[in-house]
Parts: sequence; structure tokens; C-alpha cells
Amino acid sequence: MSGKNSKSLRSYRWFGPDDLRSFGHRSRAASMGCTQLDYAGKPVIAIINTWSEANPCHIHLRERAHDVKRGVLQAGGFPMEIPAISLGETFQKPTTMMYRNLLAMETEELLRSYPIDGCVLLGGCDKNTPALLMGAISMNLPAIFVPAGPMLRGNWHGQVLGSGSDVMKYWSERRAGNIDLQAWQEIEDGIARSPGTCMTMGTASTMTSVAEVLGFSLPGASSIPAVDSNHPKMANLSGRRIVEMVWEDLKPRDILSAASFDNAITAVLALAGSTNAVIHMLALAGRAGIKLALDRFDQLSATTPVLAHIRPSGKYLMEDFYYAGGLSALLKVLAPQLDLSARTVTGKTLGENISSAEIYNQDVIRTLDNPVYGSAGLAILRGNLAPNGAVIKSAAAEPRLLKHSGPAIVFDSYNEMNARIDDPALNVNADSVLVLRNAGPKGAPGMPEWGQLPIPKKLLAAGVRDMVRISDSRMSGTSYGTCVLHVTPESFVGGPLALLKEGDMVDLDVPARQLNMRVRDEELARRRADWQPKEGSYPRGYGKLFMQHIKQADQGCDFDFLEGTAPIPEPEIH
Ligand code: FES
Repeated sequence: MSGKNSKSLRSYRWFGPDDLRSFGHRSRAASMGCTQLDYAGKPVIAIINTWSEANPCHIHLRERAHDVKRGVLQAGGFPMEIPAISLGETFQKPTTMMYRNLLAMETEELLRSYPIDGCVLLGGCDKNTPALLMGAISMNLPAIFVPAGPMLRGNWHGQVLGSGSDVMKYWSERRAGNIDLQAWQEIEDGIARSPGTCMTMGTASTMTSVAEVLGFSLPGASSIPAVDSNHPKMANLSGRRIVEMVWEDLKPRDILSAASFDNAITAVLALAGSTNAVIHMLALAGRAGIKLALDRFDQLSATTPVLAHIRPSGKYLMEDFYYAGGLSALLKVLAPQLDLSARTVTGKTLGENISSAEIYNQDVIRTLDNPVYGSAGLAILRGNLAPNGAVIKSAAAEPRLLKHSGPAIVFDSYNEMNARIDDPALNVNADSVLVLRNAGPKGAPGMPEWGQLPIPKKLLAAGVRDMVRISDSRMSGTSYGTCVLHVTPESFVGGPLALLKEGDMVDLDVPARQLNMRVRDEELARRRADWQPKEGSYPRGYGKLFMQHIKQADQGCDFDFLEGTAPIPEPEIH
């Protein structure tokens, strides 16, 4: 790692030379009220901000950008706040996953096209975290991630409410007739009490934890609630640190390694984190040029206990996790299973970062001799229904269903499922296997979080709360149930899920890592010969680009042209 000086800063090419172009750059900096005292010879720090009124989880990030700026200025840098598209999980349709790669591409190109020496990335709502990191890894300028932080606990009549998980739980009760409209509206008003991301161990907290373990955030940053005063302090310190990182020339690909990915997977497993992390981490590794196979998640799952007692798999919420010591404390417990020599944005190793961490509540963060579950239970399944793999989070499933056979009820689309699922005439019982197809990266498109298929009303009324469900879609990290997800190849491109027929027997055997349909090979060959591909629905625009270049779930759903580390020339400055 070589250090930088004022003239080797990337921004010097814009602001330093005595020529016509640099005159233009300096004169327009002057138009913003800046003198050369503000920027000459200083690292220019982009604050890539995904603040937006279309994204409630990021509504405090405007203030946080100011906290970052204070830090940048304190450390002798020149902050430049640059807004980027915000992927608002709750409002954006058809799914934010459709736009993860767009934000990744935007992040990379913003950093490339402007006079940037280093960046602070502000985000946290689900896809924003992987997108920002993917772009930063590809551009490979010094980068530090400021997670948006989880919101406060929800509350209803004195009961603690958790994002997503309790929505699904009480929605089932409402559909079963056990919750009236007034109670439902009270829950609506009590479940999201502050700015910040979902406060269960959903995709947001899973991915901000991944960012921290990969080495992109200051120690403990991902656990701090959005409205805690330690959050703006963390943002401020991140602003200070990025300036040092520029001088040290400490870049993302100096930090990332196969070991840091193993560390992050191990942490996700110990957190019982979201299955979405599988897809995002495959994409992140692809950007860093690090080989990561889908089966690595299964291998590490077998030896990693669940230590975080957080919903949806546990009892507590992110606020409790923070008070119990947060991610640093959990990593300290996990230390025997981590490569503590992995590098981080602090310039220190992961081991040095967590050396003084402590657990303050051993029910929230468990010790190795008292885990929530002995193994993490994230399994990769294969078989004639998923030749390239499928994912199940068995920790979120009813154990009796992990080895199960039943007849398939097949829905060809989300709309068809909604139209039929509560039909009293639907030939379904508690042993049926609910299947949704055409819900994958190309089929939906965008691979929405439809994987927790609803339990039919008549079964809810009979007390059924879990069934085997299979799809080529994803599932929210706050969801739960025996849901087989990410079936690959997806049905839309002719994966075997497309050949399944209503009534076919399906065998799920999680201990054996198998997912099969009891259909003979000759019959499958006949069905394949009859199968007709569907037309894509985007004749132009971003959707067309998406359909042409999106890869399958087992490869991280990146665009094929964004993967890898092939060098891209720096822009000419004319
Ligand atoms: Fe933004 Fe859950 S909706 S983190």
C-alpha cells in the first residue's frame, strides 16, 4: 500500500493544473462560495447520499451527511455531497431488487466521473447497502460505509412489535378473523416509530452487518439505532477516517479477501440473517474478483451456531442487540471461527477492532455454550427441481416440515396465486406444497420477495401456521416459514420448476439437502419438449437492459457486464 500526496490525488487532475479546464473547475467551485483554501491539495470526499422522501428508512440521512461533512472538514478534506437514487423498500415497485444494479452502476460512475478521492456511502435500507458497496468495490477508491441504523422497537398495547415479522404474524391473525380493523390500525401506527431501517434481523441489518464484517464500517457502526446520539458521532468519525484512508490509499480491494467473505458469511449465519445476503454477497464477491460458491454458505452453516436471539428467528430486536453489545460483542464470541487478521477501514484488523468488546446481556447475544440454535440452518438444496441450487433458512421453519412430501399446488404468477389462494374450492390441505413460479430474476421480473406464500385462509382458520412453500423468488429477511427460495435456474428461463404440474409429489429433505419432484425423467423430457418460453415485458428502457443482462440467483443477480475487475480507463479531462 503506497501513500498519497497532494499532487497524486485523483482530484488534482481537475483542480491542480494551470490550464483552461482546471480554470473552469476552480471558477465553478468559486461560484459555490469556495476558495482554494477549501479544496487545494485536499482529498475530495464524495458523500454518496441515498436520502429521499421516497425512502422513510433514510429520512435522517440528510442530517447524517452534515455530520460526515464535519468530520471530513475536521480532518482536512473537502466534502462533496452527491445524491444517488434511493431504493425505498416499502414504496418502490415492482421490487427494489430490480434497481440494485442501477444504484451500483450509478455509484461507480459518479465516483469515476467526478473529481473524487474517496467516498462515504450513506444507506441501509435493504438493497442500498449491497448496491453502494458493489459500485465502490468496482471503482476501488477508498470507501467507508455509514449504515442508516435500525429504527426503535415497535409498540402496541405494551407488546413489542418487530418490522415485517409482526406484520406477517398479525396479518395471518387478521385473515383468520382474530384481529379487528381497529387493532390492525393501531398496529399500523405503532410498528414503525422512528427513522431508520427495519429493526428485526431483516435484510437491512443483515447487510449492514455484512458491510461491517467485510471491513467497510467503523467497529460497531451497524448496530447503532438511527436516532441514538452515537449515530451522528459515528457518521462524524467516518468522515474523519475517510480522509486518512485517502492519504493511506486504503482501497476496498485492499480490504476484501476470501477470508473476509468467510467472516461475513459466518456472521450472517450467527445472526440468523436474511437469505437475501446469499445473493448480495455472491454479487459483492464477483465485483471484487473473489471466487465465492453458493455451497460455501451451507458449509459454514454446519459449523456456525446462531448466537443472536433476534426476530424473526429469535425474541429480541436490534435496539436490544445494541444495548447487549452489538455486532462487535457477537464477533468476539465468534472469534474462534473468524479470520481475525482480515483488514478493515480502520487500518486495523478485525481482531484488533473487536478486542475490547463485551456482552452485556447473554440472553440477547448468546455464548458458544448456550446458542439459540446449535447450527445456523441455512441450507443449499439441489435435486431435479433445483439443479443449480435453492436456499432455505431452516431456523425460520417448523422443524416437522424439514423432511416433508406432499402434492404440489402450482401458481404460475403472483396474481394467479392471489386470485386462487383463498378460494374455498382450492384442493389444498396442510400437507400440500405451495409452489409459485415465474417469480425469479427474469420471470417477475426483479425477483421480488414473494417467497413467503400466504397460507390459505381455510387452513389458517384450522390453525395451520406453516407449510412447505417453494418459489424462484426471494423472501424478506423479516419473513419466516418453511420457504424454499431462489430455485435456480428459474422457471421463466426453463428451469425444471417450469415443468412441475399440480398434484405432482414434491419431496423436501433438508437434512439430505434435496429438493425433488417425483416425475420420471422420460415424462420430464416430454414436458420440456412442450414447454414454451414466455415473452419478456420490456420493449425498451432499463427493463430491457435488465432482462438482457441479469444473471441467475446462484450467481448473485449482477449484470453480466458489471462483474469482475477489468480496469476501466480514467476519464480524460478535456
Ligand atoms: Fe427499509 Fe425495511 S423497509 S429497511
